Amino acid sequence: MTRVVVSGLRKSFGSRVVLDGLDLEVPEGSLTAVLGPSGSGKTTLLRILAGFERADAGSVTLGENVVEDGRTQLPPEARRVGYVPQDGALFPHLNASGNVGFGLSRQERKSGRVEELLALVGLSGEGRRYPHQLSGGMQQRVALARALAGRPSLVLLDEPFSSLDAALRAGMRADVARVLSETGTTAVLVTHDQDEALSLADRVAVLRDGRVAQCASPEELYTDPLDPALASFVGDANLLEGTVRAGAAVTSLGTLVIADGVSPFAEAQKVMVLVRPEQLELRAANGAAGLGGRVVECRYFGHDMLVTVEMAGEIKGGPPVLHARLSGQSPLDTGSPVALSVEGPVKAWPASS
Ligand SMILES: Nc1ncnc2c1ncn2[C@@H]1O[C@H](COP(=O)(O)OP(=O)(O)OP(=O)(O)O)[C@@H](O)[C@H]1O
Ligand SMILES: [Mg+2]
Repeated sequence: MTRVVVSGLRKSFGSRVVLDGLDLEVPEGSLTAVLGPSGSGKTTLLRILAGFERADAGSVTLGENVVEDGRTQLPPEARRVGYVPQDGALFPHLNASGNVGFGLSRQERKSGRVEELLALVGLSGEGRRYPHQLSGGMQQRVALARALAGRPSLVLLDEPFSSLDAALRAGMRADVARVLSETGTTAVLVTHDQDEALSLADRVAVLRDGRVAQCASPEELYTDPLDPALASFVGDANLLEGTVRAGAAVTSLGTLVIADGVSPFAEAQKVMVLVRPEQLELRAANGAAGLGGRVVECRYFGHDMLVTVEMAGEIKGGPPVLHARLSGQSPLDTGSPVALSVEGPVKAWPASS
């Protein structure tokens, strides 16, 4: 188990700045997700942590050891880091056992360690199969077992579920979380999938412009994002303007209670308000109280649905449509008139002038 501290990390390829003074702390034994869009430098960060890529500046400390700074760079094999690359990258000419045991000594291979690892990832008795005889999910499990074989103090996972279908992905996420917590391994997982980061990780670090814009627990990130852009990036967000009055925000959707009270805001201050889609309630409009609107789209997912509502009145500081997430209801017809209201306290930031 190892704490990871990344400080002031910089990396450019030619004139393209990818990491621009990135700071990140990964607590010992935690699973930390680094969330960022495609091209934001996630793989680059992992490759620097693993020692496959050199940073231009900054430092990386694994446990007690500075493995990378201006002067020293510890080679990958001396870092005790397990790496599951973005494409899994199993050796095609080796069977599952061969892949898992690749970095182990002959003695370790004979000690039953390979079978133990295959069992850990749910592949007992499958060691003879070659990568092309394994499903995508099984290949990912072999890659994880291989990364864990040398009892690494840190495991790096590069979008390990992106090639799997939705059903397999959910199962694999749970399995990976279990394996990592059973082995007590510190892990960094990079992904561009918000749901994956929020549902899997203890901590989520959001990459933006080559830095960590916010690092927090999934709940804090979702309910208390540092700015409106982060709010939109980690989930669906309705953003609108408000004016603070007596601790609440007066908006086009009514007077909304601000989460965490008034303390940061002055009376009459302009604010930007976040209303998550699950905070919107819709009712059939026949005389119901609430603001009037009309359904323009309903995306039905079974467990819930995302309804786009065009509002009759103007929404100050936001687009004229709102997104509502509803569960336990039948899909709504396009064009249906609805009455809308907001449930619960809302997050607010000072409006940027
Ligand atoms: N070896 C390299 N040489 C030149 N440019 C590179 C190299 N590696 C990465 N880049 C560039 O750095 C940027 C970040 O790449 P990186 O692979 O780290 O992003 P990513 O967040 O992992 O993206 P994805 O989600 O698509 O995997 C990209 O613009 C990429 O083209
Ligand atoms: Mg990548």
